[in-house]
Amino acid sequence: MFSRYFFLGTLFLVLVFSTTESYSLPENKSYYIHPDTGLNITQLLSKYGYPFENHIVQTKDGYLLTLHRMPHGRQNISYSGRPAVLLVHGLLSQSTDFVNGGPEKSISYLLADRGYDVWLLNCRGNTHSRRHISLDPDVDKEKFWDFSWHEMGIYDLPNTIDYILNITNQDALFYIGHSQGTTAFFVMASLLPKYNGKIRHMSALAPSALFSNNMDIKFRTLANFRNELQVASVILNIHEFLGHMDLYLNLVKKFCLKGMETYSLCEALYVLGVGYSPTEFNMTLLPVMVSNSPSGFSVKQGFHYLQLFSNGGLFRQYDHGSLINWITYGAPTPPNYNLSNIVAPVTLHYAMKDQLADYKDAEILATLLPNASKRMVPVENFTHLDFLWGNHVKPLIYDYILNEMEKY
Ligand SMILES: *[C@@H]1O[C@H](CO)[C@@H](O)[C@H](O)[C@H]1NC(C)=O
Ligand SMILES: *[C@@H]1O[C@H](CO)[C@@H](O)[C@H](O)[C@H]1NC(C)=O
Ligand SMILES: *[C@@H]1O[C@H](CO)[C@@H](O)[C@H](O)[C@H]1NC(C)=O
Ligand SMILES: *[C@@H]1O[C@H](CO)[C@@H](O)[C@H](O)[C@H]1NC(C)=O
Ligand SMILES: *[C@@H]1O[C@H](CO)[C@@H](O)[C@H](O)[C@H]1NC(C)=O
Ligand SMILES: *[C@@H]1O[C@H](CO)[C@@H](O)[C@H](O)[C@H]1NC(C)=O
Ligand SMILES: *[C@@H]1O[C@H](CO)[C@@H](O)[C@H](O)[C@H]1NC(C)=O
Repeated sequence: MFSRYFFLGTLFLVLVFSTTESYSLPENKSYYIHPDTGLNITQLLSKYGYPFENHIVQTKDGYLLTLHRMPHGRQNISYSGRPAVLLVHGLLSQSTDFVNGGPEKSISYLLADRGYDVWLLNCRGNTHSRRHISLDPDVDKEKFWDFSWHEMGIYDLPNTIDYILNITNQDALFYIGHSQGTTAFFVMASLLPKYNGKIRHMSALAPSALFSNNMDIKFRTLANFRNELQVASVILNIHEFLGHMDLYLNLVKKFCLKGMETYSLCEALYVLGVGYSPTEFNMTLLPVMVSNSPSGFSVKQGFHYLQLFSNGGLFRQYDHGSLINWITYGAPTPPNYNLSNIVAPVTLHYAMKDQLADYKDAEILATLLPNASKRMVPVENFTHLDFLWGNHVKPLIYDYILNEMEKY
């Protein structure tokens, strides 16, 4: 019993802490801070000499999504007719995470320089897409935040894909998703099968649809306390979680720069959170990472994921409890997403030590998708965020993707 209260108490503090206003900590200038720290996507692209466009996509249900575009690379060779590629971020992440590793490493620059027309989506609810035609995310909280990655799959992605195909005058595009960016894709491609025809090829980084083999103690614990957490979120009126604040960067600058006494503590916390690969993880980039992320999500997104941990390995729609399930779905349990409908060609890139997208689940997923190939990252300790920022992510994964895309 004690541990239960301890857990809930800690959670309460975290919730309260994460929703209070940010405060400023004094900066210590004597440590090395990466020069890209504090820059947003516009500033990063202009610093490195890449073109940038801002687009707004209005979804069928009224959300206003910010879609960033790099129409070409540093050289403006041929402007039109470049194949479009859509990049979709993971939970807590946003478009900047596909560029903040710098032009030598981040996938967006590599694609733009290879001749692609690069589009970076910000799914509903993140810092760039906290907008709706009639709902205010801070006032109409219950209505605005009433979505999970299911709605991203049935609205954000198809509406964005149609928007891009219309502007570029193309029939189909390439898709690259990381983590939740893959989950939403699988939702779309299973429920709206005609969108498979609008995908030339999909690269899934850390594919996240099945979770029954995930034995990570943190996520298992959260999944076990799902009901308590849900009650707590209702009582505390919390619908949005870990929205972006200056506080994150201030804390990193105060405690997590190389040479500081607290550096190893920061490293340990990071390792505990997302795993650690001695050859891939680069703490120098941490201030750049937290300059724009974490960038918020709806608690329903989190609960929908936690449901997948304990439903016997099914990828299925949101479980409202049997009564509301009857009303919503006409059955006591939610329907499964039919993975057999996903006929678009997919390549799953997964890693042995990924604490979120377990490799066993990725391998099962590969057998359930009719047109998928799988590729395990050939490095022992590769983890979930190394797909974005790992030191060797370019030679290990991105070069493979760039070559593979030329075949479609
Ligand atoms: C980045 O910051 C600049 C300067 O504050 C601002 O003009 C620009 O709109 C910002 N870009 C985004 C995508 O928020
Ligand atoms: C690139 O070239 C196209 C046509 O050649 C032109 O319309 C566009 O404005 C150019 N973009 C930049 C950033 O120079
Ligand atoms: C396609 O784009 C044109 C002009 O950019 C716009 O007028 C039209 O409404 C768009 N169609 C769709 C289906 O989005
Ligand atoms: C799933 O989709 C496949 C292919 O479209 C179809 O043959 C099968 O009957 C579907 N399964 C269910 C349970 O709807
Ligand atoms: C797999 O994708 C390729 C390329 O789009 C397509 O030609 C092929 O028919 C698909 N295969 C299946 C089984 O759907
Ligand atoms: C992978 O991590 C383990 C445990 O941290 C470590 O013992 C091992 O040397 C690492 N392997 C590589 C190739 O870095
Ligand atoms: C870590 O990142 C910094 C800044 O991006 C870079 O200069 C350094 O080479 C990286 N370290 C490794 C081991 O790749």
